Amino acid sequence: MANAPREPQPRLRPKLYQRFLDGVPDYLARHYWWAYLWRTGVWFFDHQPVISTILFGQYRKLLDVTLERLDAAPCGETLQLSCVYGMFTPKLARKFAGSPLHITDVAQVQLDQTLGKIPADRHLVATRMNAESLGYADRVFDSVIVFFLLHELPDEARHRVLSEALRILAPSGRLLMVEYAPKPKSHLFYRFAPFRKLLTRLEPFLSSHWEEDYQQRLVGLARPLGRSVREIWRRDLFGAFYRVSEYRID
Ligand SMILES: C[S@@+](CC[C@H](N)C(=O)[O-])C[C@H]1O[C@@H](n2cnc3c(N)ncnc32)[C@H](O)[C@@H]1O
Repeated sequence: MANAPREPQPRLRPKLYQRFLDGVPDYLARHYWWAYLWRTGVWFFDHQPVISTILFGQYRKLLDVTLERLDAAPCGETLQLSCVYGMFTPKLARKFAGSPLHITDVAQVQLDQTLGKIPADRHLVATRMNAESLGYADRVFDSVIVFFLLHELPDEARHRVLSEALRILAPSGRLLMVEYAPKPKSHLFYRFAPFRKLLTRLEPFLSSHWEEDYQQRLVGLARPLGRSVREIWRRDLFGAFYRVSEYRID
C-alpha cells in the first residue's frame, strides 16, 4: 500500500518555556519560567513557608543579617538588583523612608508582585531592565544589593551583571551580596550526592557559582572601568552554605 501523504509539520513549534520569553533572557525563561515568570508559580513561591523551605529554614536569619549589615553604614541612593520573594523588599523600603529605594528586574510579573507588597506610603522606584546592561548612568548609586541572583545566571551573564553593578556604583560604594557560599565541600548537603544532584538540577548554574572566586573576579572586572574593589565584610551562615558579603568600590 502506498504511504499516505504526510501532514506538513510546522517548522517552529514553540517549546513551553518560549511562551515566557517576552523580552527576558533565554536562560531565565528556559530554566526558571516555572519559578519567576509563570503567574501561578509567582503566586505559589511568594509564600513564607515555601521560601523558608527553599532556603532550608535560613530565610529569616539571612534577612536579619543583611538588614543589620545595611544599618552598619549609610546606604545613600540604593538599588536592589532584581526582585526577591518574601518580605525583603518591603522591609528594605521601610528603611528608606526619606529617599526612594530603586529596584530593577527584567520580568514585569516580578515587579508587579513586588509593588503589590509595598505599602502606599513607601516610595519604590521599580524599573524593568536587564541587569546585564542597565540603563543607569555611571556612578549613580551608593549601594547595590544583590540577593540570590548571581547563582541563577550563566557565567557570561553573571560577569556582565557584576560589571554593571561596579559601573553604576559611586566611589565608596557598597556592593552587598547575599548568596550561596563558595563550594561547601564539607557541608552535609554537598557531601550527600543525591541531594547535591537534585539541587544542581533545579539550579543549573549553581555549580559554576560555587567555583567563582568573587573577589578576584570583581577586581578583574573593575580594572577596565578604572575602579577598585575590596571585600570589607563577610558572614557565613548555615555551616558556610550561605554567605552575606560586602565589597567596597572605589
Ligand atoms: C533574585 S533572583 C532569586 C530570588 C530568590 N530565589 C528569592 O526569591 O529569594 C530572581 C529574580 O531575578 C530576576 N532576574 C533574573 N535574571 C535577570 C536579569 N538578567 N536582569 C534582571 N533581573 C533578572 C528574575 O526575573 C527574578 O525576579
